[in-house]
Amino acid sequence: MFNGRDVISISDFDRNEIERILDFSERMVPVAKGDRYADPLKGKILATLFFEPSTRTRLSFESAMNRLGGRVLGFAEPKGTSLAKGETLADTVRMAAAYSDVIVLRHPREGSARLAAKYSEKPVINGGDGAGQHPTQTLLDLFTIRQDKGKLDGLNVAILGDLKYGRTVHSLSMALTNFDTKIHLVSPKELRAPREVVNHLKERGTEVSEVADLEGVLDQVDVLYVTRIQKERFPDPMEYQRIAGMYRVDEELISPYPDLTIMHPLPRVNEIAPDVDILPQARYFNQAFNGVPVRMALLALVTGMAEALGEEAGEEVAR
Ligand code: NCD
Repeated sequence: MFNGRDVISISDFDRNEIERILDFSERMVPVAKGDRYADPLKGKILATLFFEPSTRTRLSFESAMNRLGGRVLGFAEPKGTSLAKGETLADTVRMAAAYSDVIVLRHPREGSARLAAKYSEKPVINGGDGAGQHPTQTLLDLFTIRQDKGKLDGLNVAILGDLKYGRTVHSLSMALTNFDTKIHLVSPKELRAPREVVNHLKERGTEVSEVADLEGVLDQVDVLYVTRIQKERFPDPMEYQRIAGMYRVDEELISPYPDLTIMHPLPRVNEIAPDVDILPQARYFNQAFNGVPVRMALLALVTGMAEALGEEAGEEVAR
C-alpha cells in the first residue's frame, strides 16, 4: 500500500490510508520522544533537498530518521550545490536518488515535487512546493486535531490568514473533505483561497463558507487554524505591507472559547500574540512536535520498513 510510494499531494491519499498513517504515527510517539528505542531504518539514508527556508519540516524529518536508526544527508539552501552552476532540478534529484533511499524536497516552484518524483527511482516526499501542497504538514495537523478532539468527523474548522499562497491551507482543506467537517475560510478578499481549491472542496461535498471576519465564526468552530501571510510569495512588497497585521489572535479574543483548539503550522510572525501561548487552547507547539512521529511513520512506510515496527507494510506499489 505504501512501500515505494511518493508523497506529493494529500489528495493522492484516501481516508482509509490517512487513518492508517495516523494510527501508525500514534504508535511512534514513544520512539519520537526517545522513551522507546527502535532502529528499523538502520542503514537507510534520507536526502533532504531544501531550496527554501525551513526549521520544523527539515529538523523533524531529520529527527524522525535519526530516531529510527537511519542517517541523513542533504542541504538546507542550494547555494553550496551545483544548482549554483546551473544544474537542473531533474539532475539534482537523480543524484540524490543515487545517494539515498528516500528524498524530501522543498522547493519554491509549484509542481516541483511531482516533477522530482518523475526523475527519482526512490520515493519523493513533498516538503512544500511553492504555494502548492504540504502533505506531511497536513498529516501532522490531522494527527493533532484527532489527538485534541478525539475525532476528525463532526468538526467545524476555521482556517485563517493567507489562504491564497498558504500551501498548508490547500493541503489541509483538501484532506478535511475525507471527513465530515465544515470548513470556514477566513481571509481578506485579496488572499482568498484559489477558486480551484474551493471548487474541489465543494465537489467533494464539503460545506465551505468564505468570510473576511473572524469574530462571526469563532462561536461556531472547534478548531482555529491560523496561518502566516506568505510574504515571500507576494509579487508586490507594498501589497504585503498593506495586508500584514490585518489579523491578530490574542488572549482577549479567544478567552470566551475555552474549548477551541488553536493551531498554526508555524513560523508565527505576529498573527498570534505571545500571550496565547500559555493558554490551554494553544496547541501549536505540540503540533510541531507531532511532526516527528508522523514523519517517522511515513519514512518507515515508504521505505518498506514498517513491518519491523509491527506495521504491516502492505503490497508493493507499482511506480
Ligand atoms: C509552513 C510552510 O513552509 O508552508 N511551515 C511549515 O512547514 N511548518 C508554513 C509557513 O511557512 O507559513
